[in-house]
Amino acid sequence: MSEEQPALDVPTYTQGVVGTDVPTAAPGGRPETPAAEAPAAEAPGAPSTDQHADAHDGLPPAGSVPIPDFPEPQPLASHGPARIVAMCNQKGGVGKTTTTINLGAALAEYGRRVLLVDFDPQGAASAGLGVSAHELDDTIYTALMDPKFDVRTIVTPTAVAGLDLVPANIDLSAAEVQLVNEVAREQALTRVLRPVLDDYDVVLIDCQPSLGLLTVNALTAAHGVVVPLETEFFALRGVALLLETIEKVRDRLNPRLRTDGILATMYDGRTLHSREVLARVREAFGDEVFSTVIGRTVKFPDASVATEPITTYAPSHSGAEAYRSLARELIARGDVA
Ligand SMILES: Nc1ncnc2c1ncn2[C@@H]1O[C@H](COP(=O)(O)OP(=O)(O)OP(=O)(O)O)[C@@H](O)[C@H]1O
Ligand SMILES: [Mg+2]
Repeated sequence: MSEEQPALDVPTYTQGVVGTDVPTAAPGGRPETPAAEAPAAEAPGAPSTDQHADAHDGLPPAGSVPIPDFPEPQPLASHGPARIVAMCNQKGGVGKTTTTINLGAALAEYGRRVLLVDFDPQGAASAGLGVSAHELDDTIYTALMDPKFDVRTIVTPTAVAGLDLVPANIDLSAAEVQLVNEVAREQALTRVLRPVLDDYDVVLIDCQPSLGLLTVNALTAAHGVVVPLETEFFALRGVALLLETIEKVRDRLNPRLRTDGILATMYDGRTLHSREVLARVREAFGDEVFSTVIGRTVKFPDASVATEPITTYAPSHSGAEAYRSLARELIARGDVA
């Protein structure tokens, strides 16, 4: 969140559970959950356990996250040019792909034209939307390596209206090595995306868990970065290096780049651990942390298995509401049209 951001309407807050499987907390903040299910996400060396969850410690109440009440987005009269946002964290399994798919689907629900770029050789974003990318000859890799190849030929519509995908498969793993010897090797993705920008309002890039040349390409192409951060004890490790990398790319390659925000994911309000980590992340990064917090729920992996975003798989689930809230927050802040 940089200074040039338009001033925000301060959101009002309602109390509720955002995207957790957790049933409503019992009086005193103790969850009514079978012992076998709680606590979740405890890490070795965790600052504390759940046992003091009913203490008046200034942390969010157990089992619930304040849901920011961002305004309903207005429909757009016209579309494009797109703002490009990279989902980036070199730590694996923090929710980059889940955020790309579900934020994309939520923005599409609000009438935004959204292009997802799978930029991970694992092809998880493609698979999560039911695209069998491993069978494809032409993917984002082809477009990166062949300057004459038009990316529009591989833009694939998804089952969600307004949500398209540029697929990736394992071929992309070769690009990291092959691009090294190219002229303007950091700008390959910028070039690839140029022809489609006017067709979309937002382009979301699902980065791989590394800070290598592919991620530098994503940061060079992007206007903004969203950093998904798993709400667990070791989450902050590596964030300094990531922010340093973003800073370097801004200085040397892409002066417009800014950190849109840090997104707390997999939050489990049943555990004091999760609540403490969220409080620490907020303490460390202040208003760079999105007000929207994504709860931990098995509905996300379930939706991936069903190759759907949660917004269509379980439209009224609080996990779907959480990504709608993130979409509204980005729109309210002017990060997305
Ligand atoms: N909020 C959540 N609650 C529960 N599970 C989640 C949540 N978000 C993501 N997951 C699950 O955690 C796993 C990792 O998530 P995801 O693939 O989005 O992370 P990633 O950062 O893209 O991983 P990688 O670094 O490997 O690309 C997946 O199985 C996903 O379904
Ligand atoms: Mg991923």
